[in-house]
Amino acid sequence: MAIESSCDDTGVAVLRGNEVLSNLVANQKVHSRFGGVVPELASRAHQSNIIPTVTLALEDAGVSPNDIDAVAYTNGPGLSGSLLVGASFAKSWAWANGIPTIPIHHMRAHILAHFIHDTESPSFPFLCLTVSGGHTQIVRVDSPSEMEVIGSTLDDAAGEAFDKVAKLIGLPYPGGPIIDKYSKFGYCNRFIFNHSKVDGLNLSFSGFKTQVLRFLQKILSENKDFFSEGNEQNLYDFCASVQHTIIEMLMDKLIQASSKTGIIDIAIAGGVSANSGLRNALEKMAQSDGWKIYIPPLRYCTDNAAMVGMVGVFDFEDKKFGKLSDVPSPRLPDLRQSVE
Ligand code: KG4
Ligand code: ZN
Repeated sequence: MAIESSCDDTGVAVLRGNEVLSNLVANQKVHSRFGGVVPELASRAHQSNIIPTVTLALEDAGVSPNDIDAVAYTNGPGLSGSLLVGASFAKSWAWANGIPTIPIHHMRAHILAHFIHDTESPSFPFLCLTVSGGHTQIVRVDSPSEMEVIGSTLDDAAGEAFDKVAKLIGLPYPGGPIIDKYSKFGYCNRFIFNHSKVDGLNLSFSGFKTQVLRFLQKILSENKDFFSEGNEQNLYDFCASVQHTIIEMLMDKLIQASSKTGIIDIAIAGGVSANSGLRNALEKMAQSDGWKIYIPPLRYCTDNAAMVGMVGVFDFEDKKFGKLSDVPSPRLPDLRQSVE
């Protein structure tokens, strides 16, 4: 059984090997009116959700607690209170049932989600662009336990950039999927935003957000009805231009990473993998440069417990068990150290 509680989703899954028997996520609606996740509300919601979600996940999988061999749980990185709820529950439940725990690095789980039985798995080595609301990394993956972050955002994550821009124009949280939806009706070259210049394979989105803020201040001071009813095309063009810039920044670095490493097996993970612009850009690289691309189903892209269970299966085979005294860490070291 696996438990994921790093942010605002309470996930519980049951796996037999790499086959997913059940995979439930209790979403927390409470945050949408605040324009972002409120950590204290998230940990309270995890507390109320965890027991019913475990009960339903076992029921859905058609198994009883006695059938479970180990409990894998996310021990970081993430929100401290949220992690604490999942970790405390996982350790207590495992202890009460006399089985081991397996603490799991959340980012490693996003990457190894590609090995769940109903997804197409890349061969090693591959590159994984992990893009979510909390993380943006390019990882070189040599095996389930050998991975290295070769590029990373220096500030905001890509999903955060989508959400913050959406918030600036009054869209509800999370704004990423809404920007994606509106982009489909817009012209992406109507507004031109500059890429943030960062050395090597690293990225930065905070300058981009400031640039968009200045643009909005200017355009709304000239016409306060710029996004009002009747001017939908402006909204669509703005969203398309924002999305185009974010995706271009990501793709630039991914292309550099591929040519630097010579690796053309490219996987994506995390909530932003749902983005249609990113998917199209990857498809184009597959056609033009022969990239082999791996995009897992959405249920394994956004935060979920099946991906945590998948790492649990690898680590169970290697007998990498946790201790009752393990404490989850909001700022776990990078992937390389965590899997050594
Ligand atoms: O992986 P995830 O579910 O949770 C985190 O670990 O953060 O990712 C959530 C993020 C949010 O920032 C959300 O806006 C973004 O993924 N997202 C999208 C899309 N769907 C989700 N961003 C752009 N386009 C989408 N279609
Ligand atoms: Zn995540």
